[in-house]
Amino acid sequence: MTLDEMKRQAAAKALDHVSDGMKLGLGTGSTAKHFIELLGERVSGGLKVIGVPTSETTRTEAERCGIPLTTLDQIDRLDLTVDGADEIDGALNAIKGGGGALLREKIVAAASDRMIVIADDSKAVETLGRFPLPVEVIPFGLAATQRAIAKAFAETGVSGQMKVRKSDGGHVFVTDDGHWIIDADLGRISDPPRLANALTTVPGVVEHGLFIRLASLALLAGPSGIRTIERR
Ligand code: A5P
Repeated sequence: MTLDEMKRQAAAKALDHVSDGMKLGLGTGSTAKHFIELLGERVSGGLKVIGVPTSETTRTEAERCGIPLTTLDQIDRLDLTVDGADEIDGALNAIKGGGGALLREKIVAAASDRMIVIADDSKAVETLGRFPLPVEVIPFGLAATQRAIAKAFAETGVSGQMKVRKSDGGHVFVTDDGHWIIDADLGRISDPPRLANALTTVPGVVEHGLFIRLASLALLAGPSGIRTIERR
């Protein structure tokens, strides 16, 4: 089975948690795209749901698949968000933002009663940090913000190279909300909640890719089927 087939399997499994009338957060990335396509098929078959996209890419994709959309300004809470992840540990803490949508993804996940992470099994790790941690920043004062981030890293026992993310053409990658992303190659994050708190206090940091206690279930597809991690 290919990686992409595993992603689709995880996405298909998440549909078991979707029922008529639900308000859904729609994630971003290649795994979430499978979920949106499969959800679109159900919507064509008569399922009534409404979605809030976590990026402009996902908005376009959901519209293409015929999924009715709304915004967090028009509704109160979401029942469920289904999204991918770059890494997830046994406590359901995750690194997200490889696709650059971490800010909207976190706002949407936090406004949801439940969040399900869908991924291929290779995203499951014992300790977060192998995947570079995306930190979304305001372009103004970048060097000062980077120094403050390095200080927050040192205070929480991590260190590593920081790189401003570039897009394929070599230009600085700009998020849907006009920010930049610093990818921090930390290797090992021994205390993710502590690092998450420290980054939150840095002026210039808009958001970071550590998703702490937001997911309640992970559906991880491997060659021998789906493995789940559930919040205890
Ligand atoms: C988007 O910003 C990310 O958080 C994605 O959810 C994450 O990068 C996983 O993407 P894939 O499903 O493409 O691996």
